Amino acid sequence: MWQKLYLLILASTLSLVPLLAQHSYTPADVEDGGRLFRNTCTLCHGPDGNFIPGVDLGHGIFKRVVTDADIVNVIRTGIPGTPMPPNNFNEFQASIIVAYLRSMAADKVRPGALVGDGARGKAWYQTKSDCATCHRVKGVGSRQAPDLTEIGAIRRATELERSLLDPDAEVLAGSRPFQATTRAGVTVTGTLLNQDAFSVQLLDADGRLASFPKSDLRAYGFVAKSPMPSYREKLKPQELADLVSYLSSLKGLDAP
Ligand code: HEC
Ligand code: HEC
Repeated sequence: MWQKLYLLILASTLSLVPLLAQHSYTPADVEDGGRLFRNTCTLCHGPDGNFIPGVDLGHGIFKRVVTDADIVNVIRTGIPGTPMPPNNFNEFQASIIVAYLRSMAADKVRPGALVGDGARGKAWYQTKSDCATCHRVKGVGSRQAPDLTEIGAIRRATELERSLLDPDAEVLAGSRPFQATTRAGVTVTGTLLNQDAFSVQLLDADGRLASFPKSDLRAYGFVAKSPMPSYREKLKPQELADLVSYLSSLKGLDAP
């Protein structure tokens, strides 16, 4: 990583060739770039990068930037006089975001990909699945796992598919459940709200606040594996496409 950073700095000082053309990024770099993108950019640009009129980050459609180096610059310094904010990323971090943006176009079109039917996916979710025993959509279901009401506004179809097939692939900050076991042997699982030297506070599956003095606990910590099962064996390809299409349509309470 330091070596790469050094090379990047060298490349940009010499500025002989476009920045990214010099380097190949590992799949792990691109994944990291995707994570930075999801955490910082999707709120305005959308999970596919096309929410802002005239700008489609995943398809290289821009109003002013031309080269990858321009994009790195815009990411770091923002565009004054517009809502595009400056970001506190170093050159390498900004570059892997760009590498991720370049990879988006490639994984969007998969030959032979099935077209999902959102209405069928919704029916499956509501009548045949066990999703609501952990998740909540528009006020219906459990609070044990992340609320999915807006999941379509923050995740791309490929990411949703990966969550369903391989839930352990990415630990999503803030969404891993926390577990506390009392000396009496009672285990409570929920979302960690706060912990300090002496106590732990959780929001349990029913949305109740549970507070424990650490001295009363036998064990506590984030659970190691995602409690979410993989649906690889449980969903036929068409059912998976339908479910992803339904989840992609979940864009908040006001959305239909
Ligand atoms: C607060 C909202 C907001 C956030 C967060 C944000 N952007 Fe932007 N971005 C904008 C807006 C609005 C524009 C269009 C500015 C204009 O009018 O040209 C823009 C423009 C851009 C452009 C230039 C496109 C062009 O046409 O030349 C790039 C590239 C870009 N954003 C990338 C990113 C990336 C990558 C992130 C995350 C690190 C990010 N943006 C975060 C709002 C945002
Ligand atoms: C046993 C509980 C459980 C069940 C059942 C379950 N999930 Fe999950 N799911 C979780 C947890 C917990 C997470 C948080 C991810 C982690 O643990 O890393 C999660 C994560 C997700 C994510 C990713 C959320 C994000 O922020 O990107 C999606 C999408 C999702 N689940 C959809 C579903 C769907 C659809 C079903 C039913 C087919 C389902 N889940 C069934 C517990 C569950």
